[in-house]
Amino acid sequence: MRAVDLIAKKRDGAALSSEEIHWLIAGYAAGDIPDYQMSAWAMAVVLRGMDDRETADLTIAMAHSGDMLNLHDIAPLTVDKHSTGGVGDKTTLLLAPMVAAVGLPVAKMSGRGLGFSGGTVDKLESIPGFRTNLSAEEFRRAVREVGLVVAAQSGDLAPADKKLYSLRDVTATVESIPLIAASVMSKKLAAGADCIVLDVKYGSGAFMHTLDDARRLARMMVAIGSHAGRRVSAALSSMQQPLGFAVGNALEVREAISALRGHGPTDLVDLCLTLGGQLVQLAGLRNSDEEARSLLREAIESGAAWEKFTRMIVGQGGDLDYVEHPSRLPTAPATLDLPAARAGHVAAIDGQALGMACNALGGGRSRKEDSIDPRVGMVLAAKVGKHVAQGETLLTIHAASAEDARRVAPGLLAAYTLSNTPVPAPALVEEIITA
Ligand code: URA
Repeated sequence: MRAVDLIAKKRDGAALSSEEIHWLIAGYAAGDIPDYQMSAWAMAVVLRGMDDRETADLTIAMAHSGDMLNLHDIAPLTVDKHSTGGVGDKTTLLLAPMVAAVGLPVAKMSGRGLGFSGGTVDKLESIPGFRTNLSAEEFRRAVREVGLVVAAQSGDLAPADKKLYSLRDVTATVESIPLIAASVMSKKLAAGADCIVLDVKYGSGAFMHTLDDARRLARMMVAIGSHAGRRVSAALSSMQQPLGFAVGNALEVREAISALRGHGPTDLVDLCLTLGGQLVQLAGLRNSDEEARSLLREAIESGAAWEKFTRMIVGQGGDLDYVEHPSRLPTAPATLDLPAARAGHVAAIDGQALGMACNALGGGRSRKEDSIDPRVGMVLAAKVGKHVAQGETLLTIHAASAEDARRVAPGLLAAYTLSNTPVPAPALVEEIITA
């Protein structure tokens, strides 16, 4: 077989056979197929799509490109959560400790920033010393000893997805339902959790812009997971504006720390209760949404979630002092308030524009080898539904220099749509999809 023939086949709209997909992924993971051919193939998939059988084959091939963890000797049941990507999405930082605190071991493999969306691993790495590159053995030990681990994809787990993920980030090949489904589910299957909740985001700050696309993606992933014997459900959640107020790595960690201490933004907390509630029910700990949510709420109020979080930070090498005193986390030297050009009700905030501005400030990558600046981003002062006076601050830009902040300001101003009439805040969770 030759990679060039498989690229041409997909370019021309044909389905690849199972054998061809397995050959391509094995060759890429082994380093026999170069990045340039893989990115051409990924672009062909973005443009031509893949059918359900191809997507399932790609998922299985990527999951089996490394170790498949089995955690049953450590815990009878482990849980995991994954988001399809969104702007300001620090859900994992709050949800994972909450769920671990109610007695469900969380074994989570997270991603770095992807396209205009941030990634949990980059966020956590803004805590000095915190290690996300764990071996499979360290991953298992953290599940056993702490009951909570959030790690980057190690070389051992779904390595083909790890390579393809960072390639897609910089080759404009993120936005594809089959590629996202296979990427997410290959990691989830390899990491070994029994119960998985998927946060499938839609709207301007997500890769799926419409609810219909999000529903297709969610159904595909739930089907792949159930077929592999896992208990899976998915929430379709709105990214019609960023989640919470902070966008940017260290800024989001600060916001998540406040939430763990009981002062979180309503939308973030609510989403975590919904997603966590799904895990509690999938695991059979409670039978109703109401009971599950109240169990999780109690984990925040009692300080149990905070305690789990701090144990995870210490267990993975992070300096607790930065978490206990978040003002010490990396801080941008320059800030700039962005004033509203006129009075009005905030009708929409283009999350993608905010994510791209954060990347332009240095918070994301434009080449695979780029390092990121954890300090930069923005903190929203006005979200959808709020009335602002002319000159009132819409958001504050955090940048490496005043010049950088001024450069992104016009794009951020354009991201806000103001209306003369009141606008209701959008619903957060539209639908739950179960197997
Ligand atoms: N999250 C992933 O892990 N992969 C994607 O492709 C998108 C979001």
